[in-house]
Amino acid sequence: MALIKPLRGHLLIVTFKAYIVATGKRAIELAKSAEKVARDSGVTVVVVPQFTDLKAVSESVDLRVFSQHLDPVKPGAFTGRVLAEAVKSVGAEGTLLNHSERRIGMVEIGTCVERCVDANLYSLVCADTAQSAAEIARTEPDMIAIEPPDLIGSGISVSKARPELITDSIQKIRAVGPSVKILCGAGITTEEDVSKAIKLGTEGVLVASSVVKSKDPLSVLSKMAIAISSMS
Ligand code: G3P
Repeated sequence: MALIKPLRGHLLIVTFKAYIVATGKRAIELAKSAEKVARDSGVTVVVVPQFTDLKAVSESVDLRVFSQHLDPVKPGAFTGRVLAEAVKSVGAEGTLLNHSERRIGMVEIGTCVERCVDANLYSLVCADTAQSAAEIARTEPDMIAIEPPDLIGSGISVSKARPELITDSIQKIRAVGPSVKILCGAGITTEEDVSKAIKLGTEGVLVASSVVKSKDPLSVLSKMAIAISSMS
């Protein structure tokens, strides 16, 4: 099986969610803006389009692409499920799991992380509390994102509003899984929000509304990437 390239440095992960402005052709336009930012800044940018756009986005840009979810099933008689092998086959290199808008249970998280290993995909599991982050670390994902649901889409950054959640989560995760990459997301809007997240000890951020809903996603992303590269 082909090895996936390592995800180096601090990550800027842009998830397109189910926003209509990031669907179809517009998903490709947004991914192209992200590609320009990655090229100009040298920062590793990951885009997370909807399932239906994974193939087109993967084929249109030279960027790391993740899916938004996958199901804990092996190839076989399952209807309406998303296979790890299927997202891999259309160009995804990893997947989000357990996002607060797509929660799964701890057992499913463990199975999905194993499915990612089987299919040679990166696993990025979201956690809403320090305690759940520590439990998730036991499933040995590649990455954990700390995301308090109440701040998602709020424009109020987790890094400024809940710094103690981030530092507490990092401490608890490190006690279980020293090598997992730790990120955060929710409400991250400005370059200062990004810098603060990194100062707190995270290795990257997940962003959505501040970029996807902006009139000028290129400018927003570019400022975030500059914030990252100036701290790396
Ligand atoms: O996974 C990232 C996401 O939940 C953050 O959303 O809109 O607060 O940047 P947003």
